[in-house]
Amino acid sequence: MKILGTGSSVPQYELTNDMLSEMMDTSDEWIRTRTGIRSRRILTTETITDLAVDAAKKCITQSNIPTSEIDYILCHIIIPDMTTPSLASIINKELGCTCPTLDLNAACTGFIYALDVADSLIKAGKAKKVLVVCAEKPTHFVDWNKRETCVLFGDAAGAVLVGQGGDECYFKLSTHPTDALTCKRIATPSPFYHDKEEVYPYLEMRGRDVFRLAVHNSFEDIKSVVNEAGVTFSDVKYYLLHQANVRILEAIRNELNLQEECFPHNIECRGNTSSASIPLLMDEMNQSNKFSEGDTLVLSAFGAGFTSGACLLKW
Ligand code: COA
Repeated sequence: MKILGTGSSVPQYELTNDMLSEMMDTSDEWIRTRTGIRSRRILTTETITDLAVDAAKKCITQSNIPTSEIDYILCHIIIPDMTTPSLASIINKELGCTCPTLDLNAACTGFIYALDVADSLIKAGKAKKVLVVCAEKPTHFVDWNKRETCVLFGDAAGAVLVGQGGDECYFKLSTHPTDALTCKRIATPSPFYHDKEEVYPYLEMRGRDVFRLAVHNSFEDIKSVVNEAGVTFSDVKYYLLHQANVRILEAIRNELNLQEECFPHNIECRGNTSSASIPLLMDEMNQSNKFSEGDTLVLSAFGAGFTSGACLLKW
């Protein structure tokens, strides 16, 4: 599988730590030192569907490949604007395609899962080119009265077009059940069913447990794909990790004993954008011409489930 193009889209509105500290009992110093985040983009006038379509269109333009060649559209979104049709179906319509479409949900690990599905479709001969779009609006499911979680997130969409060719990709995916990160949904009213107790419909997180799970699982996943590919940690040009917390990135980097430049990040101005974070970072780096043909990349993400996954691929 080979990456043929990238695209991304973020909302116009920028919410800084200082602005947050006027809304609640927090500070730029607390957020920056605990997470590395300085500001994030937040949906105000746009919808997440707008961002997803924009990222998809930019990706297709950047790849210079006609939409008629797209064989499959895979989207990852935790809470879409529409229950049905799927976000992938909406993008399909906006691009003027008629290919199969599917939405997935593997929480913040979604991009790695979607790439694994895309790689499998390509290997099985069912598709030659697959468009993968990850779009997330976590700012719509965090409790804005809870400083522990709401300061961490931002909204964004990222897209990649992948196709046949290139070297073998290596994946490691797993799920280790835990309730350290959950978000419940209120049942839609029905004469036959109602929630038995009051539901708190916002993200609930045991931050320290999530931090430990993230570092442990990401490190194990990275070791696994690097070993399987028969390369060394220093053969990898960039480790593109889920942008959840710069201290998580640092902890993993220290375990691997690698230089800072191997672990690029944009969390400082984007916040945690869930499954969109890796394709967003990848596109921003691609736009800055950071990748060269043949670069070895390792992608690694983790999230609710507790899902985690890594992928080693060549640019
Ligand atoms: N501003 C100011 N103070 C805050 C705060 C905020 N936004 N949020 C929490 N605090 C306070 C707490 O109330 C607590 O106060 P206390 O000591 O008086 O009780 C103190 O800061 C420490 O809280 P704690 O939760 O122990 O901080 P921490 O060092 O564990 O950092 C996280 C919290 C969330 C930044 C950290 O645990 C983390 O990043 N975890 C991983 C989260 C993640 O990546 N989630 C997404 C995965 S996809």
